[in-house]
Amino acid sequence: MAQRPTRSRRAPQHDAPGVPARRAALRLLDAVLRRGQALEAALDAAARDLAQANDRALAHAIAAEVLRRLPDLDALIDSATQRPLPDDAKARFALRIALAQALALKTPPHAAISTVLPLVDGGPRKLVHGVFGTLMRGGAALPDAPALPPPVADRWRKAWGEAVVEAAARAVAAPPPLDLTLKGSAWDGDLGGTSLFPGHVRLAEHAPVPQLPGYAEGAWWVQDLAASLPARLLGTGDGRALDVCAAPGGKSLQLAAAGWRVTALDISASRLARLSDNLARTGLSAETVAADALTWTPAEPADAVLLDAPCSATGIFRRHPDVLHRVSPGIIEEAAALQARLLDRAAGWVRPGGRLVYATCSLEPAEGEAQLGAFLAAHPEYAIEPVRPDELPAGLTATDRGWLRTLPGVLEAAGGCDGFFIVRLQRSA
Ligand SMILES: C[S@@+](CC[C@H](N)C(=O)[O-])C[C@H]1O[C@@H](n2cnc3c(N)ncnc32)[C@H](O)[C@@H]1O
Repeated sequence: MAQRPTRSRRAPQHDAPGVPARRAALRLLDAVLRRGQALEAALDAAARDLAQANDRALAHAIAAEVLRRLPDLDALIDSATQRPLPDDAKARFALRIALAQALALKTPPHAAISTVLPLVDGGPRKLVHGVFGTLMRGGAALPDAPALPPPVADRWRKAWGEAVVEAAARAVAAPPPLDLTLKGSAWDGDLGGTSLFPGHVRLAEHAPVPQLPGYAEGAWWVQDLAASLPARLLGTGDGRALDVCAAPGGKSLQLAAAGWRVTALDISASRLARLSDNLARTGLSAETVAADALTWTPAEPADAVLLDAPCSATGIFRRHPDVLHRVSPGIIEEAAALQARLLDRAAGWVRPGGRLVYATCSLEPAEGEAQLGAFLAAHPEYAIEPVRPDELPAGLTATDRGWLRTLPGVLEAAGGCDGFFIVRLQRSA
């Protein structure tokens, strides 16, 4: 941004109520849009001045809303300025924040602008005030379905067609419902909500997660319905299962709950610590290993291997709208190259006759269909074991070749699900 007092200085002591959260939202947007960081990864540093959890949540909600609506917010701003503001002008960032609040988060306009003006000085402050006033007096509104950033819309149109792009635009309009995976498959009526599949509960409106019934007892964990499918495809078992990229552990928990003796491997010790917390909370057990799967080797082959590979994460754009703005073709290519190496390693760790499930939460064919094609060409000892209809919630179907691709639009009336590619492979005996 042209003026950047927010990164190096502490917030002024005389900030009026509400301003520190907007200042933190500005820092978050700067981290995502100018420095290419993930929204969640940037949160601790951006919210460092905020003592209250509510303010931190507000800063996150404002930044996420701006990222959901960015092309439409910028179009409004451009419609009200004589000369286009540079993309990185602080005045543009401030206007995005004020407009997202007034037009999408239903903050009263006077509060939306008065808490943002202190973020900008001098001439730009006047400009922000003027442009905001002009737009509000003119009855500015945002479309129900936000426009996707053009490079993303183009990429997904080419891969999946216009209907999927339109469904993605509708899906980005609001944060999705909360999905829980139950430790046992019994439906727990205390939670309310609906169930789309045995062992699944979906909540639309809900209290903070740690306050929900069953959290403290470890009766469930948060996991999108689509994210719960890869581990489900390995079924129940009492053999050895290796979860190669395991943290924070939703899929390891599922495997442990299904009876497997689980080894959970991840390169990140801090993410593995979250996995250990989740095991402790749920009373499930797994051996955890902090190591790089590109160099580590298991002592013996496993009956089942799950590779939920690191990826561009474009399939989780509803909860993480930063991916719409920071994932470039270069990032997708890099992720696909790492996945190919990890798949190659994981393939050697499955016993003859055992199974390998490969999954990515990506909407990019390079991280799914193309990856699978290259793998099968290089590994004739593997064949797809098609996903059966009885293994899926009503409304989801496997492709003709037997893998699963969840796209925007799937289960839309029930609240949708994340975008995943999932395939189950069997090693010849
Ligand atoms: C998509 S996330 C896994 C999510 C997890 N399966 C779950 O259900 O909670 C990918 C994980 O891969 C890990 N990772 C990345 N590169 C790795 C490597 N070379 N070896 C092992 N783990 C790696 C990351 O730390 C990250 O936790």
